[in-house]
Amino acid sequence: EVGDTDYDLIVIGAGPGGYVCALRAAQLGMKVACVEKRDRLGGTCLNIGCIPSKALLQSSESFHETQKGLADHGIIVENVRLDLDRMHARKREVVDANTRGIEFLFKKNGVAWLKGFGRVTAPHTVEVDNKSFRAKHVVVATGSDSISLPGITIDEKRIVSSTGALELDAVPKHLVVIGGGVIGLELGSVWRRLGAEVTVVEFLDRLVPGIDGEVAKTFERTLSKQGLKFRLGHKVTGVEATDQGAIVTVEKAKNGATETIEADIVLVAIGRRAVSEGIGLKEVGAELDPKGRVKVDAHYRTNIPGLYAIGDVIDGPMLAHKAEEEGVALAELLAGQAGHVNYGVIPAVIYTWPEVAGIGKIEEDLKAEGVAYKVGKFPFSANGRARAMNATDGFVKILSDARTDRLLGAHIIGPEAGTLIAELATALEFGASAEDVARVCHAHPTLSEAVKEAALAADGRALHV
Ligand code: FAD
Ligand code: NAI
Repeated sequence: EVGDTDYDLIVIGAGPGGYVCALRAAQLGMKVACVEKRDRLGGTCLNIGCIPSKALLQSSESFHETQKGLADHGIIVENVRLDLDRMHARKREVVDANTRGIEFLFKKNGVAWLKGFGRVTAPHTVEVDNKSFRAKHVVVATGSDSISLPGITIDEKRIVSSTGALELDAVPKHLVVIGGGVIGLELGSVWRRLGAEVTVVEFLDRLVPGIDGEVAKTFERTLSKQGLKFRLGHKVTGVEATDQGAIVTVEKAKNGATETIEADIVLVAIGRRAVSEGIGLKEVGAELDPKGRVKVDAHYRTNIPGLYAIGDVIDGPMLAHKAEEEGVALAELLAGQAGHVNYGVIPAVIYTWPEVAGIGKIEEDLKAEGVAYKVGKFPFSANGRARAMNATDGFVKILSDARTDRLLGAHIIGPEAGTLIAELATALEFGASAEDVARVCHAHPTLSEAVKEAALAADGRALHV
């Protein structure tokens, strides 16, 4: 059957990349459809990623603070109890409100939702559940999926991915997390705060490869104080499901010594993979890279005319805001404008307590590149507001060019790090120097004064340390 509808643009996938691309293209006057197989819009991020995980991080933090933190403020709360069903219900309400919001935005902007599984059948042609649609431009925004280890089957009950870890119906006694990356530490934190014993097994000898090494060290220390246990330099070689849970076999990277750990739940969080198979790409001849990501040029064009790709399914950090920026840039390029993403200025945030945020270069990069740089650091323990909040763990670290003082990177571990990094993103985007940031008046007493002080420290003239 051939549908009679022709579009300027068909986007496959309604995650942050796809739905934002569709909205921006519609704003620019294109006739747009977006194919989504889930019964809700918003993709991984809104349904099983960013939003439900942040809902649980918020709830679990409130629980933990009420149980353990309020006494320091002189607030005595007794018999604090957990209603996990309600906590999950609130999370679902948050997700529902967000996904319905995207449906509303599609209607408002005239974007058609083609419900079903989309496949590229020929250049400019997309088939959705046996119906064919033609479009001038087709964008693949099919996102990513979690991966598992060879021989380990994820049943989402005992051996779970992030999706199952967001839905556990009881607090595990012992949660073993495979992978000390972003998902492992965020979701490990959730269940730790709710009372689980949590052991994180990480192959490398540090947490979260890719973030500033000094920040990673402080992060490990702070999480350890919260009771998370780490087996760094260990890889998981097997997980065997049992009646009560699972037995995890780990091997020390250095000498191959093995041991087993008993768990009632195992979270596999060792990365995600592009969703590029089964959607007709190979058949039409679109090139993939060795990791299965769709190959695109700087304007998101594949090697097939009229076929583009954005978001987690292409190279780059697997982040919602990166996918969104690409969605906007591509829609603008298709409309003949000059859409562009500055890949050097994409913030990354880990929403634990304390939060971790980074942007631009890390010291390890600068050393490897032989760039002469200055470091300005300021601890939250010297910030009045952080003291008032009882949140003095962490620091702000600013890296600037030794000769020109131009900002090169910024890394924060501490309260509200994810919000504080926005100022430094703006500064980096505008090519500011550390002195530019230092000369801006920051309100007192705010956490943002730690950013100003770190910028002053780059010139050896912080005032409060
Ligand atoms: P996706 O969001 O994966 O969307 C792709 C969509 O395409 C899906 O809805 C899928 O159903 C649909 N689809 C796929 N194939 C087809 C097909 N053939 N036909 C029809 N539809 C199809 N990022 C952050 O920036 N901040 C965070 O806090 C954060 N937290 C996360 C927490 C977790 C637990 C996880 C798993 C991820 C998190 N991420 C976070 C990453 C973020 O979710 C992704 O980077 C983002 O969703 C990528 O957007 P996307 O549009 O490329 O793909
Ligand atoms: P990740 O790539 O962040 O971390 C995976 C970790 O697992 C690495 O540290 C790796 O060394 C380790 N590992 C791999 N194999 C192992 C083994 N056999 N044994 C022990 N350790 C092993 O991947 P993760 O955490 O699954 O997240 C996937 C993506 O989702 C990330 O790229 C991230 O960008 C995105 N995400 C972003 C969030 C945010 O922005 N706050 C939150 C959650 C996810």
